[in-house]
Amino acid sequence: MDLRILGTILNAEARDGSARAFRWLHHGLLVLGLVAVVELTLQSTPIDRRLLVDMALLVTAFFAAEWLLRLLAAPRLATPPGRPAARRRYLLSFLGLVDLVSGWSIPLALLAGLPASEAATLGVLWMLKLTRYVAGFALIGRVLHNERGALLSVLAAFAIVLLLAGTAEYLLERGGQPQTFGSLPAALWWCIVTLTTTGYGDAIPATDLGRVIASLVMILGIAIFALWAGILASGFAAEIRRRDFLRTWALVARVPLFKQLGAQVIAEVARLLRPRRLPAGAPLMRKGEPGDCMYFIVDGEVEVALEPQPVRLGQGAFLGEMALITGEPRSASVLVRRSAQLLALDIADFRALAGQHPELTSAIEAEAARRRAKAPS
Ligand code: CMP
Repeated sequence: MDLRILGTILNAEARDGSARAFRWLHHGLLVLGLVAVVELTLQSTPIDRRLLVDMALLVTAFFAAEWLLRLLAAPRLATPPGRPAARRRYLLSFLGLVDLVSGWSIPLALLAGLPASEAATLGVLWMLKLTRYVAGFALIGRVLHNERGALLSVLAAFAIVLLLAGTAEYLLERGGQPQTFGSLPAALWWCIVTLTTTGYGDAIPATDLGRVIASLVMILGIAIFALWAGILASGFAAEIRRRDFLRTWALVARVPLFKQLGAQVIAEVARLLRPRRLPAGAPLMRKGEPGDCMYFIVDGEVEVALEPQPVRLGQGAFLGEMALITGEPRSASVLVRRSAQLLALDIADFRALAGQHPELTSAIEAEAARRRAKAPS
C-alpha cells in the first residue's frame, strides 16, 4: 500500500473518512478486548470462555499489525513528514513503546508458556493506547513539566512532615503498641494514611503527645493537598490560556486587515478576539436585533440578506461593524453558507481597539460607510 495513504489512515488527527473509519475500528476493538479481559477474570461468566480468549487474541492481532504498519508508515507520520530516522524515533518514543507492548506482550506471554486466559490479562495495557487520541494527556504532561518546581517543593514538604511525624510517633507509641508502631516503616505507614486523610483506623496513637502530633499531621495533610490542587489548577489555567492565545494568534495573522501589523500588535489584537466556529446554515445575526460584537472571517463564507441581491462575504472580510459604529440595530440578517471560522470582537473591545489602533478602526469605518452608501434609502 502507498505509504501516503497508510500515513493518512493512521494519522490520529486526520479528518479523512478512512482515518475516521480506522479510529472507530480501533476504539471498538479496544472496548471489545477490554470487556473480554475483564470477563475472563470472573469466576463464572455467561459468555463462553473460549470465545472471550478468541476476542482477546483478535484484538492483540489487530494491535500487533497496527504496530508493524505504524513502523512502516513512520516517515509519513513524523512531523515534519520525511524526518530522518523516523522509524527509530517511533520505536523509541512513548507511543511507539505503548503500541509495541499492546500488540506483542500477549503473544510473548503465550510463547513463554502462559495459558491464554492468563496471558489475556496483559490486555489491560491496551488502555494506554488512548493516550494518542486524548489531547488532554499532552496538556497534563506540559502542566506537570511547567509546574515541576512548585510541585517538587510541596512534595519535599510532604516528605519532611512524613519523616518527622512518623519518627515522633514511632518513639512515642512503640512501647504501648509494638504491633502497629514497633518499627519506623510501620509508623510511616500510619503517617501516610493520616497525611493523605485516608484514615484506615488500623493504627491509632494512644499517648497524649502522640494524639497532638496526629492532629497536626491531619491539618498539614489537608494544607499540602490544597497546595497541590492550587498549583495544578493555576498551571492548567495558564496552559489553556497560552494554547488559546496561540490558536487565536495564528487565526488573526490570516486576516488581511491584521496581516500588515507587527507581531506585537497582532498579539495585542489576539487577546481581544474570540474564535468561533459555525456550521453551514447557522444564523449569525438577525436584522433589527442590537449589535454587541463584530466578526472577522478567517475561512468559510456567510451571506448577508440584502434586497434585491444577497451579498456573500468570504475569507478576510468582516461584518457586524455597522451596528457597533452607529449604535443602530443590525441592518441585515446574516447566515453562514460554508462552515465558517470567525473571530468575534466585543463592542467594548472594539472601542478599546479604536483608542489603541485608530488606523485599524478607520479602515473598518471606511468600509462601513461604503456599505451604508450602497444601502437603498
Ligand atoms: P450590521 O448592521 O451590524 O449587521 C449586518 C451586517 O451586514 C452589517 O453590519 C454589515 O457588516 C453587513 N452588511 C450590510 N450591508 C452590506 C453590504 N452592502 N455589503 C456587505 N456587507 C454588508
